[in-house]
Amino acid sequence: MRTALVIGTGLIGTSAALALSQRGVAVHLADHDPEQARTAAALGAGTDEAPDGPVDLAVVAAPPAHVADVLADAMRRGVARGYIDVASVKGGPRRELQARGLDLTPYLGTHPMSGREKSGPLAATGDLFEGRPWVLTPTRDTDTEVLNLALELVSHCRAVPVVMDADAHDRAVALVSHMPHLVSSMVAARLEHADEAAVRLCGQGIRDVTRIAASDPRMWIDILSANPGPVADLLTDVAADLEETVRALRALESSDEHKRREGATGVEDVLRRGNAGQVRVPGKHGSAPRVYETVAVLIDDQPGQLARIFADAERAGVNIEDVRIEHATGTAGRPHPAHGRAQGRPGPHGRAAGAGLGDPAVTPVSPPAPAGGEGVRMSEGFRGASNLVRGVSAPRTPHPTAPGRCSSVENGAAKPVIVAIDGPSGTGKSSTSKAVAAQLGLSYLDTGAQYRAITWWMVNNGIDTADPSAIAAAAAKPEILSGTDPTEPTITVDGVDVSGPIREQDVTSKVSAVSAVPEVRARITELQRAIAASAVTGIVVEGRDIGTTVLPDADLKIFLTASPEARAARRSGELKGADLHTTREALIKRDAADSSRKTSPLAKADDAVEVDTTDLTLQQVVECVVTLVEEKRAGK
Ligand code: DC
Repeated sequence: MRTALVIGTGLIGTSAALALSQRGVAVHLADHDPEQARTAAALGAGTDEAPDGPVDLAVVAAPPAHVADVLADAMRRGVARGYIDVASVKGGPRRELQARGLDLTPYLGTHPMSGREKSGPLAATGDLFEGRPWVLTPTRDTDTEVLNLALELVSHCRAVPVVMDADAHDRAVALVSHMPHLVSSMVAARLEHADEAAVRLCGQGIRDVTRIAASDPRMWIDILSANPGPVADLLTDVAADLEETVRALRALESSDEHKRREGATGVEDVLRRGNAGQVRVPGKHGSAPRVYETVAVLIDDQPGQLARIFADAERAGVNIEDVRIEHATGTAGRPHPAHGRAQGRPGPHGRAAGAGLGDPAVTPVSPPAPAGGEGVRMSEGFRGASNLVRGVSAPRTPHPTAPGRCSSVENGAAKPVIVAIDGPSGTGKSSTSKAVAAQLGLSYLDTGAQYRAITWWMVNNGIDTADPSAIAAAAAKPEILSGTDPTEPTITVDGVDVSGPIREQDVTSKVSAVSAVPEVRARITELQRAIAASAVTGIVVEGRDIGTTVLPDADLKIFLTASPEARAARRSGELKGADLHTTREALIKRDAADSSRKTSPLAKADDAVEVDTTDLTLQQVVECVVTLVEEKRAGK
């Protein structure tokens, strides 16, 4: 395959595009939101320019509800030799296309079985599909060439192809993904109004069961709407089990000995059936479950303890398969920054806010146990090599079939990292900051959006933005809330989502005047410092005065610059209703106002690293900043 067109540049589309681009395929990117395609292109996933003629393969990565429309449109336009979609349901889209009378020989329904709780191009990675099953649902009519193109795509993504019938696929994903998702949500929903005292006791078990409940409901409504029947069938079975279990538990409450015995049998039955189902869950990378030895290690709440365990394991020749931190009772709820994760990236939201390692905590480490008693001997060697292994519990005899499970290390050792990114408009601050934060698992704050939000409020409340005293008098009134997830930043004023309106020309032309008023700056600066102080893993804060005034003690300060032409070109694409010339003039005027105001003007901090982005791609700038942060973290 030489050329591909990815239509839909969310998490899956952009990840596939990244993998294809990395393997030398010329990828074109399209999305109903051109900004999204531009972001994916800037991340190195391909070009957002339309191809000259038909490409080899079109990959439709639209939500299930739109897949048939997008595919039908692409097929009618003849944009490719072969067409695949990657939606999570397969029967419905195929039937819809059939109903439209399209020739389906060049179409193949596929479904890569991987994802994250995050969505959007910024969450994408070229290795998202590595080792994961990628389901292909060819029919007798599917063109062999298209099947081969799809297999090539799967191989480029280093996924494992699995061929299935479309309806069998939909029943299977209902069982292994859609139904469990709803059950996880239902369990997590019990926590919404639970007592704080109860929630504080959450441990690894509830984290495991509710992890997927953090996903975006809009995406899941789409998925479930495309596969309601099989999911409802399975939930009916779960409901029957629930009823049985409730009956058994009620019997356990009874004073009648016979009933109690029956109750215990009923509960045991569901637990045993759970065991039997659980052991069938394949291990990592879809392989058969393996037997692992679990070693419990007691460690102190001190930096470097985990590093020592890993070093000791290496000395003993033990390959650590997985790590889990369990926090000692009594430390729950103590706020602590997350340290990192054994697998994947640290996440800044929710998960990271767990308890820190308190006084002694128990850490099971799971090296694989190859054969017979060798695993036990290996971990014995590990115990011998490590003076950290203080034998809290003897290595447990491995469960005959239970595989090691992936879990996160949430340790309290690392200090949150604060990154300040300043510079004039159009230098790529926002895109860079969001991508850096997403890659490093940090929070993200767009301070320009806060100044825009307060300006929007002034305009909407009839405050004369040419009158600094009127602005000063109203500065404390609006409530401004910033959501700091880099993949989905939000901004509200008095509960109203203003993400769109604050980018309008009217706000843009007035924001410099409003943000120059000292009372406005004092109010917003206080807000920014509070947000930065509460970021668990750390934060990337972008603005004009972050390194100089708001966070002068930031761990890393970056000052981005670019030529006025490059900045105007970038901005005219972002702002609504603005041509290049007008944008350039307005931008130069706004920079001049921002740089010359008396209170904390736009300025480079003495200790900031200056990066000229004129001739750099977003990817290059991001790599540069990520490296600088990592070097800081490593104390270089
Ligand atoms: O980054 P932006 O263009 O969205 O910022 C809008 C305005 O807000 C900008 O013209 C100057 C002001 N601003 C500021 O004064 N201080 C900051 N830290 C961030 C933005």
